[in-house]
Order: sequence, then structure tokens, then C-alpha cells
Amino acid sequence: MSESPQHHGQWSSRIAFIIAASGSAIGLGNIWKFPYLLGENGGGAFVLVYIACVIGIGLPIMMAETMIGRRGQRSPIHTMTVLAKEAKATPLWQIAGWLGVLAGFLILSYYSVIAGWSMAYLFKMVGGFMDQVGPEEAQQVFMDLKAAADVQLVWHSLFMALTTAILMKGLTEGIERVTRVMIPSLFLMLLALDVYAATTPGFWEGMTFLFKPDFSKITPDSLLIAMGQAFFSLGLGMGSIMIYGAYLPKNVSIGRSSVIVSIADTAVALMAGIAIFPVVFSNHLPPSMGPGLIFETLPLAFSHMPLGALFGSLFFLLVFFAAITSAIALIEPAIAYLIETFDYSRQKASAIACGVCWFLGLGTLGSFTGGNQWQWHGKTFFELIDFVTADVMLPLGGILIAVFAGWVMKEKVSAAELDLGRYLRYWQIGSRYIAPLAVTLILLKALGLF
Ligand code: PFF
Repeated sequence: MSESPQHHGQWSSRIAFIIAASGSAIGLGNIWKFPYLLGENGGGAFVLVYIACVIGIGLPIMMAETMIGRRGQRSPIHTMTVLAKEAKATPLWQIAGWLGVLAGFLILSYYSVIAGWSMAYLFKMVGGFMDQVGPEEAQQVFMDLKAAADVQLVWHSLFMALTTAILMKGLTEGIERVTRVMIPSLFLMLLALDVYAATTPGFWEGMTFLFKPDFSKITPDSLLIAMGQAFFSLGLGMGSIMIYGAYLPKNVSIGRSSVIVSIADTAVALMAGIAIFPVVFSNHLPPSMGPGLIFETLPLAFSHMPLGALFGSLFFLLVFFAAITSAIALIEPAIAYLIETFDYSRQKASAIACGVCWFLGLGTLGSFTGGNQWQWHGKTFFELIDFVTADVMLPLGGILIAVFAGWVMKEKVSAAELDLGRYLRYWQIGSRYIAPLAVTLILLKALGLF
């Protein structure tokens, strides 16, 4: 490992960082997962709890992770090693970096398969294959897709190839250039979909469902689900925001940027809800369909509406944009690590990391298409990877990051990097107490110990 910072480059401006970090945060988690979790966990009450989690837990950890990255200037593994040394702490802290790199890598392997579904649906919508389908047909289309290994393989491969191509181009020419176009257009498309939803008969029913809190629906379970989702959605605990922080110029305010990214991420999740639920209610469909909400319920709803094909296509294009801007962030820590450790060119590192990820994705693909006989403790390959990453590695990484930033790093170092002025105290309370405690609860819950 090199002792001096590597020259990975820097973001060209503060805005470039904010857009790229928003690209990492805004993903399938906002558009696919948040709406169905909300649908299953009581609507408005869940929204409130979720926002509290973003502010109380997500924000301090996001600042901590960005700050650690910028201080270290390297891939998460090397950053943690160097900063542990600086703080005269045990080198074992590099485990937090390893957790991050590995989790991002594993998540991308299945993320790509699901992103592939969104591409398949985009194709179906544009091609008019979803016009006037009935409920059984819509269900059948989704089941057929999940059963077709060859079709999924094509989309998964295409998605990974596009991700690799962007990453090979590097920071400015690749990541910045793509996110700069995709993230603002994603906002605009979502806005158009929200306006469209406002013209549908189910609009008020959808809004009431989204924003009217029913506190009787808040259970310890939904609390923990909201916490876990805030974590995943902000893209914390897996080195992505740490590596993006490593490319951040010294003069940019971490506090202000983190607040903007958190607001953007939450706004997109809510805007996705506003786009989806009125359309679902207009067609008298159930809001609590689970993971099938955007792939089964929504296409069915669009297929019966005026201009439905157009807005349906727009929707899946948006999902694709959200997914690919997150995918590049998920694998960037691994790429930076390969470049630093083996002195690979960016092209070579991207090809290797993405290639291995593509290969791992075949396991997920197989677990949807008949390979589900292979199970470990009752979980398919996909469920296992999802569980190990989202429920174990991510919270663990988050706890380690919060504790390291709040307790291990010298206060004068973190205070200087964060430059929060009188808000520093709030950050310290969040990163020292609230975040580690709350995330420990998520972890214990996931492991069935609580
Ligand atoms: N935040 C992304 C989403 O909501 O889909 C997923 C993600 C991206 C998680 C990048 C973690 C990450 F580092």
C-alpha cells in the first residue's frame, strides 16, 4: 500500500460532487423499495419515521463518512488504515474499509439484475407490449421475465457493460459527465410524472395514503425497517460516499453538501411515492403489493390510462438512470483499491471489478430462474447476498464509521475537516451516541437477537 495519497483526481466543482453523491444515493432504493415499504408499513406514519431516521442517523453518518474519505484521500481500505495510524489506533480499523468495498461489490451483483428488469420493462413499454394488459397478464409478464434466464442475462450484461464503460472513462469524463445529465433529467421526469399523477382520479386518495399519518401503524418492526431503508437509500456504510469524499476538494463544506444530498434523496423517494400511488389507486389496485409494486401493479395501471405508454416509458427510463448512477458508486471503492494496490490502469481495474461482479450476478439470476433449489438456511443466493449486505455488512460498516469518526479520530482533526461551527456539537451527539445505538439495534434485529 502506498503511504502517499494516490492521484485519482478530484471533482471539478462542489456541484459536481453534490450531483454525483446524489446519483449514488438516488437509486432503486428510492423508486423501487421505498414505495413498496411505505405501502406495506402504513403510509404517512412510515414517511415521518423515515424522515426522522434520515435526520437523526443518516445525516451524521453521511458527514462522518465523507469526512473520513476526504481526510484519507484513498480507497476506503487504505483510508481507514492511514487514518487509524494517524489516530494511533489499531490497524484493525481497516476492516471497516474492507466491509465497505466488499458490500458495494456484492450489492452491485444483484442490483444489476434488478436494474436489468427496469431496462426490460422500458423496452416493453416503448414497444407497446404492455398496452391494455389485464391483471393476470401483468403478473404473468413479470413472472415470465423472472423465469427467463436468457432474457435477464442479456439485460444484466448490458447494464454491467454500460456501467463499466462509464467507469473506464474516469471521474470527470465518466462519472461527472453522466450524472450531470442523468440526475437533473431524472428530477424533471419525476416532476412530469407527479404532474401526470395529479390529473388522475386517485390523486387525493394517493396523497392521503402518503401523507396522513396513522400512528397506530408504527410498530417496532416498521421503525427498524425505516432505519435500514434510510441507510440503504442514502448509500451509507459501504465506502461509496467515502470514496466520493476522497475526491472532494478541501474547500467544500461537507456539512452543507451532505444536507443537500440527504434532502435530494428524500425528495426523490417522496416524489416517487406521489407518482406511483395515485396511479395505483386510480385503478383500484392494492398499494401493498411488495417488491412487485413497480413491476406488476404499476405497468398494469399505466396500461389502462390515457398516455399511459408514454408515462410508463418515462418511468422506466427514470428507474434506469437512478440505477446506473448508483451502480457506478457501488463499485468505485473496489476500483480505487485495485488501482492503488496493483497499480492497474483505470480501464483494467474497471474491467476486472465489473467483470467479477457480472459473474457473481449470475448467481442472483440463477436464484430467480429455477436455481432456487440451491438454498442455505432457507435463503436463495439472492436472498443471502441481500441479507448479508443490507442487513449485516452495511449496519456494521455504519457503526464502525460513526464510532471511528466520533470517538477515535482526534477531535481537532474532525472539527477542522467538518468545519461545522456551532453545529459541531449536534454532529458529535449524532455520531457518538444516536447513530451507533440506533444502528446497533438494526443489526441485532436483523440477526434475530432482538
Ligand atoms: N442508495 C442506493 C439506492 O437507494 O438504491 C443504493 C446504494 C448506492 C447503496 C450506493 C449504497 C451505495 F454505496
